[in-house]
Amino acid sequence: MEHILEVADVSKTFPLRGMFGQSKGGVSAVNGVSFTLKSQGTLGIVGESGCGKSTLARLIMRLIEPDQGQVRYKNEDLLKLGGSDLKKMRKRIQMVFQNPYSSLNPKLTILDNVAFPLWANGTGRAAASTQAYRYLDAVGLPKSYAAKYPHHLSGGQRQRVAIARALVLEPDIVIADEAVSALDKSVQAQVLNLFQDLKKEFDLSLIFISHDLHVVEYMSDDVMVMYLGGVVEKGPKEEVFANPRHPYTQALLKSVPSVDLAVRKAPETVLLKGDLPSPLNPPSGCRFRTRCMFTEARCAQNVPALVEVGEGHHAACLLVHEGMAAVQNL
Ligand SMILES: Nc1ncnc2c1ncn2[C@@H]1O[C@H](COP(=O)(O)OP(=O)(O)OP(=O)(O)O)[C@@H](O)[C@H]1O
Ligand SMILES: [Mg+2]
Repeated sequence: MEHILEVADVSKTFPLRGMFGQSKGGVSAVNGVSFTLKSQGTLGIVGESGCGKSTLARLIMRLIEPDQGQVRYKNEDLLKLGGSDLKKMRKRIQMVFQNPYSSLNPKLTILDNVAFPLWANGTGRAAASTQAYRYLDAVGLPKSYAAKYPHHLSGGQRQRVAIARALVLEPDIVIADEAVSALDKSVQAQVLNLFQDLKKEFDLSLIFISHDLHVVEYMSDDVMVMYLGGVVEKGPKEEVFANPRHPYTQALLKSVPSVDLAVRKAPETVLLKGDLPSPLNPPSGCRFRTRCMFTEARCAQNVPALVEVGEGHHAACLLVHEGMAAVQNL
């Protein structure tokens, strides 16, 4: 499977300014992230609240500018594009957000909400409506919904409209950022299945961002685990879930039976020490070391690289790299 998207060493620090405009350091939101998205594959990105998942998505979309790094879409460096080239690229990559109520226009009908991106790209009203009907049908909304308004719809139906609107420009890549997090469990399952069906029907490649490990496990071919702006582990889903190597991934998978990282439950086994450090002042060396059960003095000095620990499976931990038994047998 070839790669449709290659992200290399992307970083973003948001500068903080005091009342009088003086620099007060910065929030290191994304720090040296690299990954590839396989053509027609699904990459799941998981990690605690504030670890940089949405910032990463916004960097890929060029909604914010990275400080460094490369984002290559089909071998084209997206970060170098401007003007009409950037506009063209933006059609190829679309996003679906957590809250469809705030992303849909309450004053437009459902049909016009879906047609809107086509109007914005110069398609005439009649042709846009024809296309919009097609995508409403694809997401399982009957024609009778076309003339309704967003407030007439349930949360799940509104998310279907948001998905139709994301697809109407015929993108290659869809980034779903917590797209099912606000929905009830039963509706969640329907929308997840819809994503799977649409992926096949329209040959999409998906980036599926969620704080819920079960959702990521269900959806993904590959998984990437983030911690405080960086990638700690990534690889094929089966590998990462069956054979997690980084102490953070192991803690996530072992600590709670239902792993929803937005709900802070007391872990059954304490595998994580202390609280999440501030991204304003991240720990030196390995960013995870202040919460790691196995930390050693050298973890403060060296930033661990992502090293291959199995086929296509990478982990960023000095101790794992050296095959330390305690980490392996956790
Ligand atoms: N525009 C901004 N200015 C300053 N800091 C920001 C900005 N956007 C995000 N941050 C900070 O960057 C860090 C990463 O935030 P981000 O929203 O990417 O995390 P996330 O993983 O998507 O979290 P969640 O699971 O809650 O959605 C956080 O510390 C956040 O406060
Ligand atoms: Mg987010």
